[in-house]
Amino acid sequence: MTGINRQWVLKQRPNGPIGPDNFEMVDALVPDVGPGQALVENLYLAMDPAIRNFLNDNGGYAAPIAISAPIRGMILGRVRASGAADICVGDLVWGFGTWSDYSLAPVAGLIPIPHPQGDLADYLHRRGTIGLTAHYGIFDIAQVKPGDQVLISGAAGAVGSLAGQMARLAGATRVVGIAGGARKCARVVEDYGFDACIDYKAEDDISTQMRTQMPQGVDVYFDNVGGKILEAAIGQLSDDGRVAICGMISGYDERSAQPGPSNLWNLVVHSALIRGFRVTSILGNRPLVAAKLAQIDTWIDQGALRADYDVRHGLDAVPAAFASLFDGSNDGRLLVQLR
Ligand SMILES: NC(=O)c1ccc[n+]([C@@H]2O[C@H](COP(=O)([O-])OP(=O)(O)OC[C@H]3O[C@@H](n4cnc5c(N)ncnc54)[C@H](OP(=O)(O)O)[C@@H]3O)[C@@H](O)[C@H]2O)c1
Repeated sequence: MTGINRQWVLKQRPNGPIGPDNFEMVDALVPDVGPGQALVENLYLAMDPAIRNFLNDNGGYAAPIAISAPIRGMILGRVRASGAADICVGDLVWGFGTWSDYSLAPVAGLIPIPHPQGDLADYLHRRGTIGLTAHYGIFDIAQVKPGDQVLISGAAGAVGSLAGQMARLAGATRVVGIAGGARKCARVVEDYGFDACIDYKAEDDISTQMRTQMPQGVDVYFDNVGGKILEAAIGQLSDDGRVAICGMISGYDERSAQPGPSNLWNLVVHSALIRGFRVTSILGNRPLVAAKLAQIDTWIDQGALRADYDVRHGLDAVPAAFASLFDGSNDGRLLVQLR
């Protein structure tokens, strides 16, 4: 294929909150595919908070994105050229690409969608990494069991809203969310079926709110935000409590490492476990991924797993869309639709 491939590249590393000055859109040529690669025409780009870590020079758990290099991210699109036998021109795929019109991607990082069900965007939400993250965190890491009292931060967001619904499906007797603002808290309860939601932006002390909502203590804390909310949740753990660290978005804009919780002794007091996890560590295990996605499909068919989207339109919308993850102005799974 020939033509222009518009792509967002890293212009300068952020020093604090992310902004439009950190990115630049450049024109490149549509690349040729090599062996083991596919050229994907991007239909959707996913805005994932983890990308913020890769913009720093230490990169977090993946290599930092170099200055002037395309921004990496999850994409969904249609294969336009293929250098591998198992991915064909015309196939729909989701996986690892770049914030651009076309992604040149190793096929090992692409998952085909042979028989799309429902809305395509769902493959970047419930039927993709977000659903898998929530499932892996709730069932494998936190091991939620019937009778558990579960607390979830980022509860109005993509991962958190699914994690809360899955905790209920796992048999939790009380599921309490944490979100920013009264409107989001109302959605957590009314739309996602949590028993209650704590507004961490309210003036009331967060630990007091946790004690009020979970007087018997927290058996499982599923953490999306880190920082002071993590510390407060550790303070409320019950015996044999489990903390699953999914993300720490409250610290992603910070240039230096943030101090850890001051109350880790509470893990000793309550024989509690704390464990971080990454969905990327299971994506290569195709049988496990297939089993989890099959269960998610069943829940979707049963109407047991609600998902909401915040879809922005056009490649130009990317910088502002990405920034809204960090000021809380996104309203559901944040995607940019290109076509
Ligand atoms: N471990 C993994 O494999 C994995 C995979 C995917 C995502 N994640 C992590 O999961 C978390 C949620 O990701 P998502 O894609 O579902 O995003 P999301 O929750 O849909 O959107 C991000 C939300 O984070 C909240 N937030 C932003 N800054 C905050 C702060 N300083 N303190 C508290 N909350 C803040 C905002 O909600 P409020 O308006 O409620 O503040 C914002 O809407 C992130 O930490 C992400 O890195 C981890």
